[in-house]
Amino acid sequence: MNINGAAAIVSGGGSGLGRATAEALAAKGAKVAVFDINQAAAEEVARALGGAAFKCDVADAASAEAAVAAAEAAHGPARILVNCAGIGTPKRVVGRDGAQPLADFQRVINVNLVGSFNLIRLVAASLARGETLPDGERGVIVSTASVAAYEGQIGQAAYSASKGGVMAMTLPIARELAQFNIRVNTIAPGIFLTPMLLGLPQEAQESLGRSVPNPARLGRPEEYAALVIHICENAYLNGETIRLDGALRMAPR
Ligand SMILES: NC(=O)c1ccc[n+]([C@@H]2O[C@H](COP(=O)([O-])OP(=O)(O)OC[C@H]3O[C@@H](n4cnc5c(N)ncnc54)[C@H](O)[C@@H]3O)[C@@H](O)[C@H]2O)c1
Repeated sequence: MNINGAAAIVSGGGSGLGRATAEALAAKGAKVAVFDINQAAAEEVARALGGAAFKCDVADAASAEAAVAAAEAAHGPARILVNCAGIGTPKRVVGRDGAQPLADFQRVINVNLVGSFNLIRLVAASLARGETLPDGERGVIVSTASVAAYEGQIGQAAYSASKGGVMAMTLPIARELAQFNIRVNTIAPGIFLTPMLLGLPQEAQESLGRSVPNPARLGRPEEYAALVIHICENAYLNGETIRLDGALRMAPR
């Protein structure tokens, strides 16, 4: 996929990995639509990179439908979708107050898994109605899982289940959308230095970094973004989940 001039949607583009991805796509000449539930954050990023901001709750059907339609009106059908919106509130199955509230588990699944599917279905439907580009491609979709999809820690039942779901749906969707020349891949990041982790004391950040075999540091958002760019540009990558983690294997706690 030639990124230059292509319309792209980045969910969760107001922060962290999504923000770095929006910046990298814009630097490659994409017309970037920044989707985020945090409208102010989306607007700030869009302003900085010359894109457009759209408030969107990925877990909500109507909100995503409106945002995808508005992005299409502004930039044309999105050829690139990057799903970065996500939440990761940890919670034990049995905590101090007893059983984990079911709504907490459902919220994480709704945002991370259902939210990713929500945008995939809408962008795929729009691309399916359109034309394949001269290079033989019609679109590229990249979602974000986590190494917690493989080795989730204590407290990550919902998060791991949601990210396992993102990983598991990658192949069936890639198989189905092959008829439209749309590729579908997923990145499973290790521990990246995003606002979530920047809030930790320096010592805690360094100790987390030392747990990574090589390089023994936290991942940089631009390293995630670089892989998104590569997935977009490499037409033979399809149906795959790629770990991006410096060989990290998470311990139980
Ligand atoms: N940072 C890491 O170490 C790491 C590791 C593995 C996976 N991930 C995954 O990468 C993705 C991005 O993480 P990050 O570290 O950049 O997080 P972040 O908190 O910096 O950014 C996430 C963004 O998603 C937005 N968002 C949350 N709920 C939303 C919703 N319902 N609709 C639309 N937007 C919503 C937030 O407002 C925020 O701007 C997440 O899916 C996360 O699970 C992150």
